[in-house]
Amino acid sequence: MIAAYDAIAEWYDQSIRKGTLLSADDLIASICFESVGNVEGQYLCDLACGQGHLSRQLAARGAEVVGVDISQRLLEIARREGDGIRYVHGDAQALPPLGDRPFDGVLCNLALMDIPDIDATFREAARILCPGGSFVATIIHPCFQIPQNRGYFDEGFWRSDYAQGVRGQVGARHRTLGTYLTGLGQAGLLLESAAEPRLPGRDVPPVLVLQARRVLGT
Ligand SMILES: C[S@@+](CC[C@H](N)C(=O)[O-])C[C@H]1O[C@@H](n2cnc3c(N)ncnc32)[C@H](O)[C@@H]1O
Repeated sequence: MIAAYDAIAEWYDQSIRKGTLLSADDLIASICFESVGNVEGQYLCDLACGQGHLSRQLAARGAEVVGVDISQRLLEIARREGDGIRYVHGDAQALPPLGDRPFDGVLCNLALMDIPDIDATFREAARILCPGGSFVATIIHPCFQIPQNRGYFDEGFWRSDYAQGVRGQVGARHRTLGTYLTGLGQAGLLLESAAEPRLPGRDVPPVLVLQARRVLGT
């Protein structure tokens, strides 16, 4: 598996630790936690977990966490912490075996834009969730973070002009809001909330936090 983040893993890890990424990670993580609610005792999958900062925060709140990512280098960094969190190498579009126990929740923070097939990803998330289980995904807001020189309706891969940023280095996939919401519904994930957090100094929300629930019986 070729993983774009392997090439920037150390830089990405350091950027998260220094808090220098555009994503205002701590704020976004806290919004993610609000959406997930009390995670104590829950069995959670951190889908596309990267270097594991969200996994660690969830574990610190009492959850049992399994992190999955396609980048071996980021997983190596995550495992360096030696905190007992289980990290599995795999593709969110076709997950490797994670065990028979269904998850109470699946989180996917700022990663759907990196994954070519979100319909497959939503289906996989729904498959590993228990009925009624919660799916929380944070995405670059598709209505306000539109690729330069392209229109909102023009879906596909783009690369930011800001070469030093994450999206300048690995690029991203732009999709319309409708594509995300339809994909959730078709996977049997019922949208419960769509939060547009106000980040300091921003007129529009740079991220969208979608919280859905696996429909009972699907
Ligand atoms: C912007 S990073 C976010 C990482 C982490 N969720 C966080 O909050 O820091 C995107 C992540 O998606 C992972 N990724 C990309 N494609 C993937 C795929 N098909 N399956 C699993 N992980 C993938 C990358 O390796 C990277 O760790």
